[in-house]
Amino acid sequence: MATATLLVVDDEELVRWSLRERFRREGYTVVEAPTAASALEQVAGGIDLVLLDYRLPDGDGLSVLRRIKELSPDTPVILMTAFSTVENAVEAMKHGAYHYLNKPFNLDDVAMTVEKALETSRLRREVRAYRSSQSREFGFDAIIGSSPAMIAAKALLVRIANSPASTVLLTGETGTGKDLAAKAIHFNSDRAARPFVNITCSALPEQLLESELFGHERGAFTDARQQKRGLFETADGGTVFLDEIGEMTPGLQAKLLRFLEEKTFKRIGGLSDIRVDVRVVAATHRNLEEEVKAGKFREDLFYRLQVMPVMLPALRERRGDIPMLVNYYVDRYNGEFRKRVRGVSPDALALLEQYRWPGNVRELRNAIERAVVFSRSEILNPEDFPDTVRATAGGAAAGAGMRSMQEIEKEVIAATLEATRYAIGEAAKILGISRKTLLEKRKRYGLR
Ligand SMILES: Nc1ncnc2c1ncn2[C@@H]1O[C@H](COP(=O)(O)OP(=O)(O)OP(=O)(O)O)[C@@H](O)[C@H]1O
Ligand SMILES: [Mg+2]
Repeated sequence: MATATLLVVDDEELVRWSLRERFRREGYTVVEAPTAASALEQVAGGIDLVLLDYRLPDGDGLSVLRRIKELSPDTPVILMTAFSTVENAVEAMKHGAYHYLNKPFNLDDVAMTVEKALETSRLRREVRAYRSSQSREFGFDAIIGSSPAMIAAKALLVRIANSPASTVLLTGETGTGKDLAAKAIHFNSDRAARPFVNITCSALPEQLLESELFGHERGAFTDARQQKRGLFETADGGTVFLDEIGEMTPGLQAKLLRFLEEKTFKRIGGLSDIRVDVRVVAATHRNLEEEVKAGKFREDLFYRLQVMPVMLPALRERRGDIPMLVNYYVDRYNGEFRKRVRGVSPDALALLEQYRWPGNVRELRNAIERAVVFSRSEILNPEDFPDTVRATAGGAAAGAGMRSMQEIEKEVIAATLEATRYAIGEAAKILGISRKTLLEKRKRYGLR
């Protein structure tokens, strides 16, 4: 901390002198400005913190504060004033002041406030550096897709990452990128430098899952020889990813709901409430609404999770993204296996574009990986792909694949809605059905 540079802005020589003496003794570099104009000149040159007088001969503190925040948004500014009013203080904070001190001040108080402000801005810089290093791996750019459905989903994820939303629900079939999305939300949020913990609700029996999540006190049950902190505690300040939430037992669903509503919980066998700040990202490949209807999932928990829902579209509903994904994975596996595959042949691409991809991006990724590893040519051909993929070949019927009428209907409706930019009347006309029928079907298929 010893090399931070402070700028003291005050027209009174005595004030500048006392602050300068004090902070030099503490090892800071101190520069001074008696006027607003000279303060603004110095701010650009690497100042770590500004102590700013509210009344200056050539301008008032608030407008100087505003200019400083424009020139150097991350530099904390502490305002000092002899004419203190609550309104002034509120205004100052609104304009981005870190703190507001009354004159005459106690030098120890000033020193403490300065130290805290520098610590806060250091942490903020660290989070930012961390975020930019992680965002290469877990950034939104790693989520490939430029179809309207993917662009919409990504835009929503970006908004959520930057929001204080405490609960998010990711839905989508297996392999549509729910894990990827959960990490992108975490590593691109203010929580990035705090833990990201991940648990699959279907992997553990109820009691074990409960103690993983909430922890337990010593002696809470037979095997509880030690006190144990749960994931909600270890993830404080960060994100908990609850995968396969649809598989959670009703008893635990109730406890989770209580936690989401109150932000507090008790360890198993514990008496005191523990308060933590975590964002819960839940994911499921199930249709939770149907699980609710079937009585398998609590309705109240469903509505709590449904506050921020993100649906990741199946690959066959965004076939336009297939060429991009193919290129992405060809590049990646070329690098990984030191191969020199240049791409896929038009025939092979046509196959890949027609196939149903029940395993979505994961299945496509695996198919490309295998093809890159085993191919002897520079261009991947149909024979480099699995039989299942090739089985869908065969002209007009190929697009239909082995699908039910319902699936085909859903896809046609989704495509038409997208093409008409969700103009219901227009879409209904194209499809040859009434508006009412279209609205019903849209709802039934969970389309936007
Ligand atoms: N849009 C995408 N762009 C790039 N890679 C993707 C995309 N979606 C998924 N993937 C990749 O596909 C694989 C599977 O994705 P992920 O594990 O996130 O799926 P999931 O929805 O969590 O599936 P499951 O329900 O089976 O857990 C991962 O390797 C992931 O990186
Ligand atoms: Mg997953």
